[in-house]
Amino acid sequence: MTFDSLWTRRRLVSAAAAAAVLAVPAIALAQDYPTKPITMVVPFAAGGPTDTVARLLGEHMGRTLGQQIVVENVAGAGGTTGTERVSKAEPDGYTVLLHHQGITAAPALYNNLRYDTKTALEMVGMINHGPMVVVGKKGLQAASAKELFDWMKQNADKITMAHAGVGSNSHVCGLIIQKVLGQKFTFVAYRGTGPAMNDLVAGQIDVLCDQSTNAVPQIQGGTVKAYAVADKARIDSIKDVPTAPEAGFPDMTMRLWNAIYAPKGTPKEIVAKVNAALRKALADPSIKEKFAAVGTSLFPESEWTPEAHHKTFLAELERQAVLLADK
Ligand code: MLT
Repeated sequence: MTFDSLWTRRRLVSAAAAAAVLAVPAIALAQDYPTKPITMVVPFAAGGPTDTVARLLGEHMGRTLGQQIVVENVAGAGGTTGTERVSKAEPDGYTVLLHHQGITAAPALYNNLRYDTKTALEMVGMINHGPMVVVGKKGLQAASAKELFDWMKQNADKITMAHAGVGSNSHVCGLIIQKVLGQKFTFVAYRGTGPAMNDLVAGQIDVLCDQSTNAVPQIQGGTVKAYAVADKARIDSIKDVPTAPEAGFPDMTMRLWNAIYAPKGTPKEIVAKVNAALRKALADPSIKEKFAAVGTSLFPESEWTPEAHHKTFLAELERQAVLLADK
């Protein structure tokens, strides 16, 4: 055996040994995981729909995992600030992200993201999906979606529409409304639709397109005016609210979906444990009922896997790039 091949052989052996040594902590890490509380980052302000889903799921998953799941609201820049935080966190399973499909809209709307959306995160699993709903402040005269949108077109320079930052669901829905009505409105950005809804209820803002999770309770409470469900079907719990297509606006539809992510490099055994706790929560009838009460649905159980999440994620990246190309 020549010196070179001997040297190469020794380097290969030492590299394999080093890899084996490094692998041990990851396996041990996974076997004992979790040994301390887990941070679930919500990239929007407390009190909004994303936060609501995180607190509901976090409580259930924490009981399954045996460690508290602490929701941390890291808001800003339409959800990209919180996403960046998680993309740079230790891949040890103690930091996860709960976000909606706005994570796949960001690359089309931001040219300065400090993470690569396609590679920065591990897919843990999808949660639920639902429609957006167009709501207005109580003081609006408009008594129907048609009256609202006619009034908005005639008063475009006076209308204020709230959203949760560029790339948020409420922002993208506002872009769809602008495109359908052929008018631009003044957008007012918030750190989440929790605070945006508060200002709508207070009459500070005219219109908001929000997730049904946040809009349904306010509509049921009579604190805002419900104009249209931006979907093909009505929501059972607010069945008197027509859909935008019924009101004559067939292109004014938008659905959202939520999922959980972990930093790239999180051991697959840990991802599997978090996914298992998520699946247990999704299989709990009380969770399904709470989601349905605000107009959202679970994915089919066959899609509760990280692989199905990744397939949807990649498809959404492509769809959003097309949808938002001219924004
Ligand atoms: C959105 O508009 O993206 C969400 O409603 C933001 C939030 O959950 O607050």
